[in-house]
Amino acid sequence: MKMESSQLWKHLSQELFNNVGDDFLSNFREPGKANNRLAAWDPFDGTMRFFKFLLFNQCKAKPDEFFNNYQKLGNTLIGNPVTIRVVRRGTSVDVNLDHFFSIEEFSFLAENIDLTGVGCVIEIGAGFGRTAHALLKLSNAIETYTIIDLPNVLKLSSLYLKAVLDDREFAKLKFIDALGLADNRELPCGAADLVINIDSYQEMKPEVIDFYMDNVASQARFFYSKNAIGKYRPETIGLPNGREAEANEIFQLGRSREIIDIFCNSELEAARSRHIDAYRPSALFRVIAEAPLDVFPYYHNTLYARNNGRAE
Ligand SMILES: C[S@@+](CC[C@H](N)C(=O)[O-])C[C@H]1O[C@@H](n2cnc3c(N)ncnc32)[C@H](O)[C@@H]1O
Repeated sequence: MKMESSQLWKHLSQELFNNVGDDFLSNFREPGKANNRLAAWDPFDGTMRFFKFLLFNQCKAKPDEFFNNYQKLGNTLIGNPVTIRVVRRGTSVDVNLDHFFSIEEFSFLAENIDLTGVGCVIEIGAGFGRTAHALLKLSNAIETYTIIDLPNVLKLSSLYLKAVLDDREFAKLKFIDALGLADNRELPCGAADLVINIDSYQEMKPEVIDFYMDNVASQARFFYSKNAIGKYRPETIGLPNGREAEANEIFQLGRSREIIDIFCNSELEAARSRHIDAYRPSALFRVIAEAPLDVFPYYHNTLYARNNGRAE
């Protein structure tokens, strides 16, 4: 047999490996360089490969109950998200990352509080409504679920939730325009059993967070926060410098504003305890459960419960 390379490798070796020498050796494994055709795929990958493998591997670690709950959500495909398929015990579920997180959030709450006693929920900053969707499908005890959000985003969550919930479930929802809230007026939603803030305090000005803590979260029996425990420099994840202005504003938002290396376990550990303290709604609250996210460990789940009149 005469050894011949494929056309593919004939081309690659001529194009990428025709100048191998000391200079080549010094940087061939940097992002965008020739090693992306030899060993690991390029960190700057314009495909969905890493995203889909991340989701795929996270699903592998979940128990059957996770997917039983996922199926109970009904339609999770509005908006056309990217999915991976999980087949367990003969049933097949197309999982997207948004609702994957919703089921994780439900599981965290259900493991740590008795949801049969949670009738009134308020969520601050609900995005398209994925958490409301999951909780209203999975917890029958909820009687009212109030979403406080910016008006344009409320338009989306109300459309989305109308499409995925039945009439009885949708009737439990109230939508409050955040821009119409004022310090000196009573909130239109009253006190809740559970207040939720996911991935949004970290994008608000500190005085806005103070307002929500004082007027909403600290009035509740439980407060659930899932937010970032610190800020990171954009270049550590390869964000181009052109986004500096946005990055600078982001550094001023939230209560966990210290810049940390989110890929260093010891920096993450130190930041977590500061974060848990910073997001306590008031001195009357104690932490009853906390855990980092598996997928993005610089996010932290923290569940606080109000003491009966005693400061911690
Ligand atoms: C990154 S999204 C997270 C959405 C949702 N919690 C999720 O995890 O899918 C941030 C949310 O906070 C909302 N938000 C921003 N500023 C707000 C404010 N001042 N009051 C209420 N919501 C706000 C945004 O409109 C958006 O819904």
